[in-house]
Amino acid sequence: MKKLHMILSASALGATLALAGAAQLKAQSDQLIAVDESTFDCITEMTPVRGFFVDNLLGNLDATLAVANSTTGGTWPTGSMVQLVPTEVMIKQPEGTSPATNDWEFFELAVSAEGSQIVTRGFTDVVNRFGGNCLDCHIKAEPQWDMICETGHGCDPIPLSREMLTGIQQNDPRCARPE
Ligand code: HEC
Repeated sequence: MKKLHMILSASALGATLALAGAAQLKAQSDQLIAVDESTFDCITEMTPVRGFFVDNLLGNLDATLAVANSTTGGTWPTGSMVQLVPTEVMIKQPEGTSPATNDWEFFELAVSAEGSQIVTRGFTDVVNRFGGNCLDCHIKAEPQWDMICETGHGCDPIPLSREMLTGIQQNDPRCARPE
């Protein structure tokens, strides 16, 4: 009888823990910044910084620009959105969302004149169309740069010149074409 009681309370405890876990997961997804395909648009309409582009999904662009332009780096504020090419995006989710990626969420998009589609999104296991894992490269940035690579931050370079990158940016099919 005592044993039965223990089994019952153990399963009650298990159920309680499962509920607590579910509540925690729910709290985490509630606090995530909602991102869908309508979040993304013409890259060159974002704010340019040294050849890449930024925005802040929570309207906190000044805070994003302050870190982007800091000569000593810093932690990018929640809501920051960063792009070098139209199809690869980093978005800063709230603190604690994903310690392994400094709370950056990575996106691989497909873009066309009709808009954007999310091909893959996530934290540690997003791979670009060349088979490269976003985090594997970006984690090599020295800590003060908060996983932003640019050049000279410690990441392995990508084989695209400034001219090629500018061309890719200016050919984002989502941008309105001149008449
Ligand atoms: C092979 C390594 C590599 C992979 C894989 C990679 N990146 Fe990058 N990424 C870089 C480097 C290096 C730069 C800086 C290039 C430059 O400015 O010349 C960069 C630049 C960026 C930038 C502009 C900000 C910055 O860090 O300079 C964003 C945003 C970005 N990548 C997102 C992604 C996303 C999202 C993925 C995955 C879908 C990804 N990257 C995959 C190496 C990589």
